[in-house]
Amino acid sequence: MFIDTHCHIDDEKFSDKDAVYTNLVAKNVIYAINMSCNNKSIDDSVYLAEKYERVYFGAGIHPSDIEELNDEIIDKIIGATKHKKCVAIGEIGLDYHFEPFSREKQVDGFIKQLEIASSVSLPVSIHCRDATGDMLNILKDNKSKIKNGAIMHCFSGSVETARELIKMGVYISFGGTLTFKNAKNLKEVAKDIPNDFILTETDSPYLSPEPYRGRINEPQNVSLITEYLAFLRNTDVNNMATTILNNTCRIMPKLK
Ligand code: NI
Repeated sequence: MFIDTHCHIDDEKFSDKDAVYTNLVAKNVIYAINMSCNNKSIDDSVYLAEKYERVYFGAGIHPSDIEELNDEIIDKIIGATKHKKCVAIGEIGLDYHFEPFSREKQVDGFIKQLEIASSVSLPVSIHCRDATGDMLNILKDNKSKIKNGAIMHCFSGSVETARELIKMGVYISFGGTLTFKNAKNLKEVAKDIPNDFILTETDSPYLSPEPYRGRINEPQNVSLITEYLAFLRNTDVNNMATTILNNTCRIMPKLK
């Protein structure tokens, strides 16, 4: 069985969500966690989790939508966490890729959402793009707020960064980029890190793994990422899948 700890089934690129769900069930994906990005996608995530048995969700505001974060939305996120299928705060984090952005607002919004996670005892799913230095500093300064666990979603950093994160107890989640031919450093990370910190995801509809790179990604493709991880780590896919199941259930105890 396979687990997609971070996907966006609510994305409008998925016009036929029933088909996406049927495909993931057929591929033996047992949990698909729909991460919300903004106000609307929190509602959509609740809807999907109530409609589809294997779909769970995270509640949070993405750094690119951080302008939406106000007191009302904070209350809404806290309210959503009471849902039995809300297993994380996410996706949250920092994204310094697309100009213009306000670093100050992103940092402030990220820390506020780390506080929510701590207050409701949930782990966080973290997005980090072109912001590794700030990310590491914020996590170091806010260690107590990630005591319920943190996942670096679609990790794309170096072996050194991965080791620093693991020292802080942060889990590393691998997505389709792991399978890309030019992802040499990432493959080294996948070989280097201890079993207990490995998770899998798709970030679908984005970042399709090989051999589907460039096409619309789906949660069912997490099977390919798990197989590739097993290959890199010299183990068989069932072993790899069991490790990932154990890790996922440890960090997201509400999954059942
Ligand atoms: Ni995402």
